[in-house]
Amino acid sequence: MEIIVTPNYEEMSKTSAKIIANEIRRKHDLVLGLATGDTPVGTYEELVKIHKEEGLDFSKISSFNLDEYVGLAPLHKNSYNYFMHDNFFKHININMANVYVPQGNTNDPEEFSRWYELQIKRVGGIDLQILGIGGDGHIAFNEPGSSFASRTRVKALYKQTIEDNSRFFSSMEEVPRFAITMGIGTILEARKILLIANGKKKADVVASFIEGPVTSQITATALQLHTHVTVVLDQDAASKLTRTEYYNWVRDNKHMVHKSVGR
Ligand code: GLP
Repeated sequence: MEIIVTPNYEEMSKTSAKIIANEIRRKHDLVLGLATGDTPVGTYEELVKIHKEEGLDFSKISSFNLDEYVGLAPLHKNSYNYFMHDNFFKHININMANVYVPQGNTNDPEEFSRWYELQIKRVGGIDLQILGIGGDGHIAFNEPGSSFASRTRVKALYKQTIEDNSRFFSSMEEVPRFAITMGIGTILEARKILLIANGKKKADVVASFIEGPVTSQITATALQLHTHVTVVLDQDAASKLTRTEYYNWVRDNKHMVHKSVGR
Protein backbone atom coordinates (compact mmCIF):
# COMPACT_ATOMS: atom_id res chain seq x y z
CA MET A 1 0.00 0.00 0.00
CA GLU A 2 1.30 3.42 -0.89
CA ILE A 3 0.15 6.12 1.54
CA ILE A 4 0.22 9.71 0.34
CA VAL A 5 -0.55 12.30 2.99
CA THR A 6 -1.48 15.74 1.62
CA PRO A 7 -2.00 18.97 3.61
CA ASN A 8 -5.73 19.43 2.98
CA TYR A 9 -8.86 18.41 1.04
CA GLU A 10 -7.91 20.51 -1.98
CA GLU A 11 -4.50 18.87 -2.31
CA MET A 12 -6.00 15.41 -1.70
CA SER A 13 -8.41 16.08 -4.57
CA LYS A 14 -5.67 17.40 -6.89
CA THR A 15 -3.32 14.50 -6.15
CA SER A 16 -6.00 11.84 -6.69
CA ALA A 17 -7.25 13.54 -9.90
CA LYS A 18 -3.68 13.59 -11.24
CA ILE A 19 -3.30 9.86 -10.58
CA ILE A 20 -6.57 9.13 -12.42
CA ALA A 21 -5.72 11.49 -15.31
CA ASN A 22 -2.33 9.81 -15.77
CA GLU A 23 -3.97 6.39 -15.97
CA ILE A 24 -6.43 7.70 -18.61
CA ARG A 25 -3.54 9.19 -20.61
CA ARG A 26 -1.72 5.84 -20.47
CA LYS A 27 -4.79 3.87 -21.59
CA HIS A 28 -7.47 5.76 -23.51
CA ASP A 29 -10.07 3.02 -23.08
CA LEU A 30 -9.47 2.67 -19.33
CA VAL A 31 -12.21 0.99 -17.28
CA LEU A 32 -12.83 3.15 -14.21
CA GLY A 33 -14.62 2.07 -11.05
CA LEU A 34 -16.32 5.11 -9.52
CA ALA A 35 -17.38 6.07 -6.01
CA THR A 36 -19.91 8.52 -4.58
CA GLY A 37 -20.05 10.46 -1.30
CA ASP A 38 -18.66 13.84 -0.25
CA THR A 39 -15.04 12.67 -0.44
CA PRO A 40 -14.63 12.32 -4.24
CA VAL A 41 -16.55 15.53 -5.16
CA GLY A 42 -13.30 17.57 -5.24
CA THR A 43 -11.54 14.85 -7.25
CA TYR A 44 -14.31 14.94 -9.87
CA GLU A 45 -14.10 18.74 -9.95
CA GLU A 46 -10.36 18.54 -10.59
CA LEU A 47 -10.86 15.95 -13.34
CA VAL A 48 -13.44 18.22 -15.00
CA LYS A 49 -10.89 21.04 -14.83
CA ILE A 50 -8.19 18.86 -16.42
CA HIS A 51 -10.70 17.89 -19.12
CA LYS A 52 -11.58 21.52 -19.85
CA GLU A 53 -8.10 23.02 -19.56
CA GLU A 54 -5.88 20.23 -20.84
CA GLY A 55 -8.33 18.29 -23.02
CA LEU A 56 -8.26 15.06 -20.98
CA ASP A 57 -10.30 12.72 -23.18
CA PHE A 58 -12.97 10.52 -21.60
CA SER A 59 -14.60 9.49 -24.89
CA LYS A 60 -13.23 5.93 -24.87
CA ILE A 61 -13.38 5.13 -21.17
CA SER A 62 -16.00 2.93 -19.50
CA SER A 63 -17.14 3.39 -15.92
CA PHE A 64 -18.80 1.22 -13.32
CA ASN A 65 -20.20 2.71 -10.14
CA LEU A 66 -19.77 0.83 -6.92
CA ASP A 67 -23.28 0.96 -5.55
CA GLU A 68 -26.82 2.35 -5.51
CA TYR A 69 -29.68 2.51 -3.01
CA VAL A 70 -32.37 -0.12 -3.53
CA GLY A 71 -35.72 1.49 -4.36
CA LEU A 72 -34.44 4.76 -5.77
CA ALA A 73 -35.08 5.41 -9.47
CA PRO A 74 -32.04 6.64 -11.48
CA LEU A 75 -33.41 10.21 -11.63
CA HIS A 76 -34.22 10.41 -7.90
CA LYS A 77 -32.29 13.37 -6.42
CA ASN A 78 -30.73 11.16 -3.73
CA SER A 79 -29.73 8.37 -6.08
CA TYR A 80 -26.05 7.78 -6.77
CA ASN A 81 -26.91 7.79 -10.46
CA TYR A 82 -28.13 11.40 -10.13
CA PHE A 83 -25.06 12.30 -8.06
CA MET A 84 -22.71 10.99 -10.75
CA HIS A 85 -24.43 12.91 -13.55
CA ASP A 86 -24.56 16.07 -11.52
CA ASN A 87 -20.97 15.99 -10.27
CA PHE A 88 -19.14 14.34 -13.13
CA PHE A 89 -20.72 12.83 -16.25
CA LYS A 90 -22.49 15.93 -17.53
CA HIS A 91 -19.26 17.94 -17.36
CA ILE A 92 -17.02 15.60 -19.40
CA ASN A 93 -17.09 13.92 -22.83
CA ILE A 94 -17.84 10.42 -21.57
CA ASN A 95 -19.94 8.22 -23.88
CA MET A 96 -23.06 7.47 -21.82
CA ALA A 97 -23.36 4.08 -23.57
CA ASN A 98 -20.25 3.06 -21.60
CA VAL A 99 -21.50 4.28 -18.21
CA TYR A 100 -22.82 1.73 -15.72
CA VAL A 101 -24.47 2.52 -12.38
CA PRO A 102 -26.40 -0.19 -10.51
CA GLN A 103 -30.13 0.22 -11.08
CA GLY A 104 -31.78 0.83 -7.70
CA ASN A 105 -35.34 0.30 -8.89
CA THR A 106 -34.78 -2.99 -10.70
CA ASN A 107 -37.49 -5.63 -10.18
CA ASP A 108 -34.92 -8.37 -9.85
CA PRO A 109 -31.82 -7.22 -7.94
CA GLU A 110 -30.27 -10.71 -8.02
CA GLU A 111 -30.50 -11.00 -11.77
CA PHE A 112 -29.35 -7.42 -12.15
CA SER A 113 -26.29 -8.11 -9.93
CA ARG A 114 -25.30 -11.10 -12.08
CA TRP A 115 -25.70 -8.96 -15.21
CA TYR A 116 -23.56 -6.17 -13.69
CA GLU A 117 -20.72 -8.59 -12.94
CA LEU A 118 -20.95 -9.88 -16.52
CA GLN A 119 -20.66 -6.37 -17.95
CA ILE A 120 -17.49 -5.77 -15.91
CA LYS A 121 -16.05 -9.04 -17.29
CA ARG A 122 -17.15 -8.19 -20.84
CA VAL A 123 -15.02 -5.03 -20.90
CA GLY A 124 -12.02 -6.89 -19.49
CA GLY A 125 -12.31 -5.94 -15.81
CA ILE A 126 -11.80 -2.69 -13.92
CA ASP A 127 -8.40 -1.03 -14.44
CA LEU A 128 -8.62 1.57 -11.69
CA GLN A 129 -11.13 1.48 -8.86
CA ILE A 130 -11.73 4.69 -6.89
CA LEU A 131 -12.95 4.22 -3.32
CA GLY A 132 -14.00 6.29 -0.33
CA ILE A 133 -14.40 4.78 3.12
CA GLY A 134 -17.52 4.73 5.29
CA GLY A 135 -17.54 5.66 8.96
CA ASP A 136 -17.80 1.96 9.87
CA GLY A 137 -14.86 1.10 7.61
CA HIS A 138 -16.91 -0.10 4.65
CA ILE A 139 -15.90 0.15 1.01
CA ALA A 140 -18.81 0.57 -1.43
CA PHE A 141 -21.66 -0.70 0.78
CA ASN A 142 -19.83 -3.77 2.06
CA GLU A 143 -20.92 -3.49 5.66
CA PRO A 144 -19.18 -5.16 8.62
CA GLY A 145 -19.13 -8.95 8.22
CA SER A 146 -19.23 -8.90 4.40
CA SER A 147 -17.35 -11.82 2.90
CA PHE A 148 -14.05 -10.95 1.26
CA ALA A 149 -15.21 -13.21 -1.60
CA SER A 150 -18.53 -11.36 -2.05
CA ARG A 151 -19.74 -10.25 -5.49
CA THR A 152 -22.31 -7.64 -6.56
CA ARG A 153 -25.46 -8.20 -4.49
CA VAL A 154 -28.02 -6.59 -2.21
CA LYS A 155 -26.68 -5.63 1.21
CA ALA A 156 -28.58 -4.39 4.26
CA LEU A 157 -27.12 -1.11 5.51
CA TYR A 158 -25.58 -0.89 8.97
CA LYS A 159 -27.06 1.49 11.57
CA GLN A 160 -24.08 3.86 11.44
CA THR A 161 -24.28 4.06 7.64
CA ILE A 162 -27.99 4.89 7.77
CA GLU A 163 -27.25 7.63 10.32
CA ASP A 164 -24.27 8.96 8.30
CA ASN A 165 -26.30 9.09 5.10
CA SER A 166 -29.41 10.59 6.69
CA ARG A 167 -27.90 14.06 6.10
CA PHE A 168 -28.95 13.80 2.45
CA PHE A 169 -32.59 12.92 3.23
CA SER A 170 -35.31 14.98 4.91
CA SER A 171 -35.95 12.30 7.56
CA MET A 172 -34.34 9.11 8.90
CA GLU A 173 -37.35 7.12 7.65
CA GLU A 174 -36.56 8.11 4.07
CA VAL A 175 -33.03 6.65 4.12
CA PRO A 176 -33.04 3.37 2.18
CA ARG A 177 -32.22 0.26 4.26
CA PHE A 178 -30.69 -1.70 1.38
CA ALA A 179 -28.24 -1.13 -1.44
CA ILE A 180 -26.95 -2.97 -4.49
CA THR A 181 -23.18 -3.01 -4.13
CA MET A 182 -20.14 -4.50 -5.78
CA GLY A 183 -18.67 -7.12 -3.46
CA ILE A 184 -15.24 -7.15 -1.85
CA GLY A 185 -14.29 -9.92 -4.28
CA THR A 186 -15.36 -7.71 -7.20
CA ILE A 187 -13.34 -4.76 -5.88
CA LEU A 188 -10.22 -6.84 -5.21
CA GLU A 189 -10.17 -7.91 -8.88
CA ALA A 190 -9.56 -4.31 -10.03
CA ARG A 191 -6.00 -3.99 -11.34
CA LYS A 192 -5.32 -0.84 -9.33
CA ILE A 193 -7.17 0.76 -6.42
CA LEU A 194 -7.16 4.37 -5.26
CA LEU A 195 -8.77 5.12 -1.89
CA ILE A 196 -9.26 8.69 -0.76
CA ALA A 197 -10.28 9.98 2.68
CA ASN A 198 -10.40 13.31 4.43
CA GLY A 199 -11.41 14.84 7.72
CA LYS A 200 -10.93 14.07 11.44
CA LYS A 201 -14.04 11.88 11.52
CA LYS A 202 -12.27 9.34 9.28
CA ALA A 203 -8.99 9.31 11.28
CA ASP A 204 -9.76 6.24 13.45
CA VAL A 205 -11.11 4.11 10.65
CA VAL A 206 -8.22 5.11 8.34
CA ALA A 207 -5.68 4.07 10.99
CA SER A 208 -7.50 0.75 11.49
CA PHE A 209 -7.68 -0.14 7.83
CA ILE A 210 -4.05 0.73 7.07
CA GLU A 211 -2.30 -0.38 10.25
CA GLY A 212 -4.78 -2.74 11.92
CA PRO A 213 -5.38 -6.45 11.41
CA VAL A 214 -7.34 -7.75 8.41
CA THR A 215 -10.94 -8.33 9.47
CA SER A 216 -14.33 -8.54 7.81
CA GLN A 217 -15.56 -6.22 10.59
CA ILE A 218 -13.72 -3.35 8.84
CA THR A 219 -14.10 -4.32 5.21
CA ALA A 220 -11.56 -1.77 3.92
CA THR A 221 -8.86 -3.93 5.56
CA ALA A 222 -9.39 -6.36 2.65
CA LEU A 223 -7.34 -3.88 0.62
CA GLN A 224 -4.25 -5.11 2.50
CA LEU A 225 -4.60 -8.25 0.36
CA HIS A 226 -4.32 -6.31 -2.91
CA THR A 227 -0.98 -5.70 -4.65
CA HIS A 228 -1.60 -2.19 -6.00
CA VAL A 229 -3.39 0.16 -3.63
CA THR A 230 -2.72 3.90 -3.34
CA VAL A 231 -4.28 5.80 -0.45
CA VAL A 232 -4.47 9.60 -0.66
CA LEU A 233 -5.34 11.33 2.61
CA ASP A 234 -5.54 14.80 3.99
CA GLN A 235 -3.68 15.62 7.20
CA ASP A 236 -6.77 15.19 9.38
CA ALA A 237 -7.67 11.73 8.09
CA ALA A 238 -4.00 10.69 8.53
CA SER A 239 -3.75 12.07 12.07
CA LYS A 240 -4.09 8.72 13.90
CA LEU A 241 -1.56 6.80 11.77
CA THR A 242 1.57 5.79 13.67
CA ARG A 243 4.01 5.38 10.77
CA THR A 244 3.44 8.67 8.93
CA GLU A 245 7.17 9.53 8.94
CA TYR A 246 7.89 6.31 7.03
CA TYR A 247 5.05 6.87 4.53
CA ASN A 248 6.26 10.43 3.90
CA TRP A 249 9.84 9.26 3.40
CA VAL A 250 8.71 6.71 0.82
CA ARG A 251 6.49 9.32 -0.90
CA ASP A 252 9.42 11.75 -1.19
CA ASN A 253 12.06 9.20 -2.18
CA LYS A 254 10.22 6.98 -4.62
CA HIS A 255 12.77 7.73 -7.35
CA MET A 256 15.36 5.81 -5.30
CA VAL A 257 13.41 2.58 -5.71
CA HIS A 258 14.38 2.55 -9.38
CA LYS A 259 18.02 3.23 -8.53
CA SER A 260 18.17 0.45 -5.93
CA VAL A 261 16.66 -2.20 -8.20
CA GLY A 262 19.38 -4.39 -9.66
CA ARG A 263 22.02 -3.53 -7.10
C1 GLP B 1 -21.33 5.67 1.20
C2 GLP B 1 -20.81 5.04 -0.09
C3 GLP B 1 -19.33 4.78 -0.03
C4 GLP B 1 -18.59 6.01 0.46
C5 GLP B 1 -19.08 6.36 1.84
C6 GLP B 1 -18.37 7.54 2.45
O1 GLP B 1 -21.57 4.75 2.16
N1 GLP B 1 -21.48 3.83 -0.39
O2 GLP B 1 -18.86 4.38 -1.31
O3 GLP B 1 -17.21 5.78 0.46
O4 GLP B 1 -20.47 6.66 1.74
O5 GLP B 1 -18.99 8.74 2.10
P1 GLP B 1 -18.37 10.16 2.33
O6 GLP B 1 -17.35 10.34 1.25
O7 GLP B 1 -19.53 11.09 2.13
O8 GLP B 1 -17.79 10.20 3.68
